[in-house]
Amino acid sequence: MICHLNYKIDKKKYKKVFFDNYSKGKFYNLNGVDVPYWWRIYGLEKEVIEVTRDLGIQDLNFQAVFTFQHQFSKLPDHVDIDRIVGLNLNLADDMPNITIEKKLYEYEAALIDVGSKVHSVKADKKPRLVLKYTFTDNWSKIYEVLNKHNIIDHEKTVKDNPEYKNYISILTEKNKKFLKEPNKLLKNT
Ligand SMILES: [Fe+2]
Repeated sequence: MICHLNYKIDKKKYKKVFFDNYSKGKFYNLNGVDVPYWWRIYGLEKEVIEVTRDLGIQDLNFQAVFTFQHQFSKLPDHVDIDRIVGLNLNLADDMPNITIEKKLYEYEAALIDVGSKVHSVKADKKPRLVLKYTFTDNWSKIYEVLNKHNIIDHEKTVKDNPEYKNYISILTEKNKKFLKEPNKLLKNT
């Protein structure tokens, strides 16, 4: 499930936050080995507080992470662990893609049920820079909060998912097989 959001992040400002804090980040670490095409910066919740407030999510349980993937990197099918829900805000000029249950989407700002649905990222000739909130609250609670703050883009979302209002987040037995297994997750092209 993906819900598009009515939110335009100030790309210039938050790209600067990313680059100003670049040295605080580190490569995604896979079984003790750095993955040299996936840089992530945690711990900048204070720097993104205005975005958090704009979205109205300050009382939810989340971490904010800047995530940068080099061009031509990709992620195979997986489900994120701990039933997390992701809110992704694109900071690059081009829209990033995500394939959810074999359907390809592009987004500027989206809430995505990455802890329940099988998803992947196709290799792209453009790098991918996203400010991502990862929530440990459940989908419906996050949806309600965003909806209350008029952040859900209903018009755009209904085109992709006509039944989105009735969506219930469930991690099926079948999808449990796709729970992120680090040694299978990452491959560069
Ligand atoms: Fe994921």
